[in-house]
Amino acid sequence: MILQIKELSDLATRVLSAERLEHTLKVAEWAEELARHHGLDPVKARCAGLAHDLAKEIPLNNQLRFARRWKLLHYPEDEQSPYVLHGPVAAYWLEHYYGLKDVEVIAAVANHTLGRPGMCRLEMLIYSADLTESSRDFPKVDILRQSLYDDLEKGTLACVEHTLIYLRESKRPIHPLTQLTYDDLQRRQSIGTGS
Ligand SMILES: [Fe+2]
Ligand SMILES: [Fe+2]
Repeated sequence: MILQIKELSDLATRVLSAERLEHTLKVAEWAEELARHHGLDPVKARCAGLAHDLAKEIPLNNQLRFARRWKLLHYPEDEQSPYVLHGPVAAYWLEHYYGLKDVEVIAAVANHTLGRPGMCRLEMLIYSADLTESSRDFPKVDILRQSLYDDLEKGTLACVEHTLIYLRESKRPIHPLTQLTYDDLQRRQSIGTGS
């Protein structure tokens, strides 16, 4: 079975609460708009947006159980903060149980919470659209949205930086992948591989 927008939309409607579904639809809409603007595949962007939080409402102990079984745990922090697992768990589930084949969509779902060094543009898009969809309301969110519109890579760097500042200020743990993602995007900007 090849997953399409309709199937993913039905799946999201079936497994998510009304509130999470609303967020999901907004991420999908914003991701599609950014994809059209930046010349990326709008169907892939919408699919990844619809799929990104499909595992978010699975109880954390079950997410942890799936992550152990499917060998998705790579850092001690994954177990200490299991809320970061819903991306990899959803990606594995969609790939192995629902026949999702597109490697970029799978990666975008898997890495939407923490990022990773070497993200492709679709991964950047979903990471950033998740943070800046239309119902997000925090100081500077409009600046981030404009930055993403102007330059996807620079905008994503700004989104990761925003997340790091938020985590530091609220004294929450910083997962090593988020720091590595920031360092990688900064390096890519400084050597001129930015979009
Ligand atoms: Fe998420
Ligand atoms: Fe989300």
